[in-house]
Amino acid sequence: MQNPIIVALDVPSADLALKLAREVAPFVGAFKVGKELFVSAGPELVRQLRATGASVFLDLKFHDIPHTVAKAVAAATRLDVQMLTLHTSGGSEMMRAAEHAAQDTARTLGRPAPLVLGVTVLTSMDSAALAELGGETNVAQQVERLARLATGSGLRGLVCSPLELAQLRTFLPPTVQLVTPGIRTGAEKADDQKRTLAPREAIAAGASWLVIGRPIYAAAKPAEAAEQIFRTLSQ
Ligand code: C5P
Repeated sequence: MQNPIIVALDVPSADLALKLAREVAPFVGAFKVGKELFVSAGPELVRQLRATGASVFLDLKFHDIPHTVAKAVAAATRLDVQMLTLHTSGGSEMMRAAEHAAQDTARTLGRPAPLVLGVTVLTSMDSAALAELGGETNVAQQVERLARLATGSGLRGLVCSPLELAQLRTFLPPTVQLVTPGIRTGAEKADDQKRTLAPREAIAAGASWLVIGRPIYAAAKPAEAAEQIFRTLSQ
């Protein structure tokens, strides 16, 4: 079985990220580099992670005009990341340009295209926050609308909350990969995650990949925590 655990490297420096990555590497499938770490440690950190053989998920949530997003996706593809994110609310033309840039750049380099993942409605947004934007106010309906737009624009994956998995799986093609944060084992506190599922439950509900941060990096022994989670998935 492919290891579906993606560890969020939500630490402030390259040194800490590389130390954590080395420690937990045997028990996880990939590492997520988000905005804080990328802004402080940059593309060099991604190259260093790739040099250890690790797969990298670059979570910068692009949202801009199609040309600019396509150029950023091409640059991420040259960095050899395995996954990256953009906001589906950037529209179908932006998403098509991004997917095209990923495929085209990868073909030129002779490697597989990274998975371009669409983010629908941020889990920090509720219906009151959607109402402020002036459109659909039902969160589930807006998630479905953007998910359909994303896959219709050629994206092969989406980021979603654990509680959106079952709904999305009712209408998405089974080949669409769903990447899910908000995973908690029950052994730790929920932190600021309000809607969570355990790793096995999330996979059973249709997740392809699990993004796990604090339950691993904030554990007293991160490698043991990662191994434990991986074991629960292999049972
Ligand atoms: O520490 P924790 O397991 O909550 O980390 C989850 C990771 O997934 C963090 O990097 C967070 O930014 C990200 N994320 C999330 N919820 C979303 C989207 C991304 O927790 N809706």
